[in-house]
Amino acid sequence: MPLVSMRQLLDEAAKGGYGVGAFNVNDMEQIQAIMMAAKETKSPVIVQASRGARQFAEDLYLFRLIQAAAELNPEIPIAMHQDHGNSYETCKSAIDLGYTSVMMDGSLKADGKTPASFDENVEVTRKVVEYAHERGVTVEGEIGVLGGVEDGHGAGGSGLDHITDPDQAVEFAEKTGVDALAIAIGTSHGAYKFTKKPDGSVLKMDVLLAIHKRLPNTHLVMHGSSSVPKDLQDIINKYGGNLKETWGVPVEEIQLGIRNGVRKINVDTDNRLAITGAIRKVFAETPEKFDPRDYLKPAREAMKKVVAQRMVEFGQAGHAGDYSPVSIEQIAKGYKDGSLSTQPLVTAK
Ligand code: 13P
Repeated sequence: MPLVSMRQLLDEAAKGGYGVGAFNVNDMEQIQAIMMAAKETKSPVIVQASRGARQFAEDLYLFRLIQAAAELNPEIPIAMHQDHGNSYETCKSAIDLGYTSVMMDGSLKADGKTPASFDENVEVTRKVVEYAHERGVTVEGEIGVLGGVEDGHGAGGSGLDHITDPDQAVEFAEKTGVDALAIAIGTSHGAYKFTKKPDGSVLKMDVLLAIHKRLPNTHLVMHGSSSVPKDLQDIINKYGGNLKETWGVPVEEIQLGIRNGVRKINVDTDNRLAITGAIRKVFAETPEKFDPRDYLKPAREAMKKVVAQRMVEFGQAGHAGDYSPVSIEQIAKGYKDGSLSTQPLVTAK
């Protein structure tokens, strides 16, 4: 199956009432782990690469690997997404390469660190939407600012610093025409999200519910959604690691989000933890080994297990065969003739 538009994938998820995990990749083993999980659970999937990943792997290596994944798994709808594009140029380069979706994170300036003004965010996101939609490519925007830093991108600080204002979310969606909207509800990138199991004082699900009420037809995106499971932390620490006690986003909160408009859930850290734990175990238990396959294979297996579990928990499992891919050219036509509307349905306060 060719790579599919993320918009189609999210529209289908909305129809089916489920969420779709968006898993970050840097290399072949991570892509294989995702595809193994998708195949096993029969799930449509979003694979995403940050700017750091594109640099690390070199654009073409990574993109060709995704094309190989699509060719080898014709029964799985796959959208290839640029995670946290920092500028028009970054998004354009992903689109020109063949990505079927981009995130223009205009919540930060192009340095990827300094919060941008609302108007700056609207302007750059709108520009990306124009370029992308002409080519049938999906756009995710962000309003409010996430906490933490991922691959050098992020304002740092707590996830509570720039929580999304529901009124601004409505105005942003209307002015930009984005297909999906990332909102800030207290989560942050990385392992250190919360110092105890999060409650409503730090994880603002009420803000998410308020935004969904105002924008019932907009696909919402939850970033920083790793659950940072204790068992994965324990494996790392058991085999020589040194992680401090920490909490992630409980799966049941994500599921509450999915019942209220969340269609894309970003997960990176949980997979990093699984990979690192598996590699540490091999190093600690069999220090005589030196063939990379001896630790990359268990690492890939450990990541596959986490991804497959999330696919079941998010509800995307079993939905790979529900629909046939619409070509990117057809999607572009839909944006042009208005049949693929991005004007959100707004309800009164
Ligand atoms: P985590 O660090 O919680 O996995 O979040 C990843 C993410 O949001 C990528 O954009």
